[in-house]
Amino acid sequence: MATTEQSTADTHAETGVRRRDFINIAAVSFAGVGAATAVIPLVNQMNPSADVLALASIEVDVSAIQPGQAIKASWRGKPVFIRNLTAAEQAEANKVPLSELRDPASLADRTAEGKANWLITLGVCTHLGCVPLGAAEGENKGDYGGYFCPCHGSHYDTAARIRKGPAPTNLEVPEYAFKSDTVVQIG
Ligand code: FES
Repeated sequence: MATTEQSTADTHAETGVRRRDFINIAAVSFAGVGAATAVIPLVNQMNPSADVLALASIEVDVSAIQPGQAIKASWRGKPVFIRNLTAAEQAEANKVPLSELRDPASLADRTAEGKANWLITLGVCTHLGCVPLGAAEGENKGDYGGYFCPCHGSHYDTAARIRKGPAPTNLEVPEYAFKSDTVVQIG
């Protein structure tokens, strides 16, 4: 009998301990979740806010881009084409009457004063946002020698103006400024 009572007492004691353990563990777990939840807003506050990121600018050294070549840079998550136009490409752009253009703008309108050879545009087709071809060596430049978006067949000329296909407007010229003869700041 004594053995049975002892055994029952042990079981209760054991159960009691187990219950307490569970309660402690549960409390710790909830406290853990609470702490983790409290930390996330603090960490988020330490990241740059969206408007700070949106103001970010980049500087690009363009000294290695020869006439007729272009490079792709990345700015605010978008491709940017920086193209050094040849004299022939500039002449090609300049001979087109603005009245023939869907989105009328001259090469001078789309380049910095005294730097008509530097054509800097977003590499984002204004139709549905694909990245047009024509910046990299050997890529299809389209029927007008600028850029070609194969998604739905938009052709841009040597001033990156839309000439054929569904895109409604020219490739966008971002805000930029030359910091020196060879370094341009975009944004
Ligand atoms: S996205 Fe460029 S033609 Fe459609």
